[in-house]
Amino acid sequence: MKERILVTGGTGYIGSHTVVELQNSGYEVIIVDNLSNSRADVVDRIEQITGVRPAFEHVDCLNYADLDGVFSKYPGIKGVIHFAASKAVGESVQKPLLYYRNNLVSLINILELMSKHNVQAIIFSSSCTVYGQPDKLPVTESASIKKAESPYGNTKQINEEIICDTVKSGADIRAILLRYFNPIGAHPSALIGELPSGVPQNLVPYLTQTAIGIREKLSVFGDDYHTPDGSCIRDYIYVVDLAKAHVVAMYRILQNKQKEKVEVFNIGTGKGLSVLELIHAFETATGVKLNYQIAGRRAGDIEQVWADPAYANKELGWKAETSIEDTLRSAWNWQLKLREEGIQ
Ligand code: UFG
Repeated sequence: MKERILVTGGTGYIGSHTVVELQNSGYEVIIVDNLSNSRADVVDRIEQITGVRPAFEHVDCLNYADLDGVFSKYPGIKGVIHFAASKAVGESVQKPLLYYRNNLVSLINILELMSKHNVQAIIFSSSCTVYGQPDKLPVTESASIKKAESPYGNTKQINEEIICDTVKSGADIRAILLRYFNPIGAHPSALIGELPSGVPQNLVPYLTQTAIGIREKLSVFGDDYHTPDGSCIRDYIYVVDLAKAHVVAMYRILQNKQKEKVEVFNIGTGKGLSVLELIHAFETATGVKLNYQIAGRRAGDIEQVWADPAYANKELGWKAETSIEDTLRSAWNWQLKLREEGIQ
């Protein structure tokens, strides 16, 4: 019998890639998604890639009764991967209560229902945003948590605390918190990828939209930082490598291999890349010239952050493997596919 995994936000960007990897590894997946930032046809596309159609429930995690219904409809769920959340940093500053409600209440509902239905394993989507600007680079999991720069970042910190406190209280729950660095790229099939609504806020979708002519120019937010070329540095990780980290993390929990009931892992490559380096890597990888200009700094940006992924490498037996060139080519192929399909 295949083990059943509930994936909230499973039609979203990281969620959909993770569902593919879970199914490829023999898990049965039930997706819960309210489609607030994704499309229903992602389920068809996952089926096209894997040959298996995941169960899909159009449910909002804020709705306790509906979510309860999903746990009852699919008895014996072994684990939950909780992606469903609002994630636009700027919007969270404008609409903090929306972010606190969406991101906190969803997790509380999930944890209460896990106890009610005897589900013991949860993987939570956290973020390197919890470190703020680290004092030491690369950043390890034991680095201090800095005061959040935005309500979005604060929800990630509070969510981590909610899980720790719940486990500490004696709930029969084991958790892995994955702190993602900057996920980019798309599935090699170009059937799933990131679909930002409106003007993209993140670097790579803005870059590929500029390269294809939807946007006129990419602005590089700042070239006067204390970095070798003056632009900000991030750890860009291929979304498929990131998705695979969830599969090994779920295996670890279900096989009872954890050292503690709540474990935290950095999920990054261990390499920092500046905005300008990323632009040049894109040009080299695709042969496409990019129109960009240096602009002023963006408020709230961290100067530089990249992961020390050694703990995840050792304990999970997982490593980010894909080169930045292959990753950027996948993002470009996805953009070309969106054009071909008349989506963007
Ligand atoms: N950047 C540009 N031009 C752009 C967009 C971004 O130069 O048009 C720069 C940013 O200034 C930054 C880098 O590219 O230096 C990466 O920016 P992103 O917006 O892609 O990602 P962030 O590192 O800002 O990550 C933030 C939060 C994450 C969150 C993520 C997704 O820190 O926690 O946004 O929204 F998950």
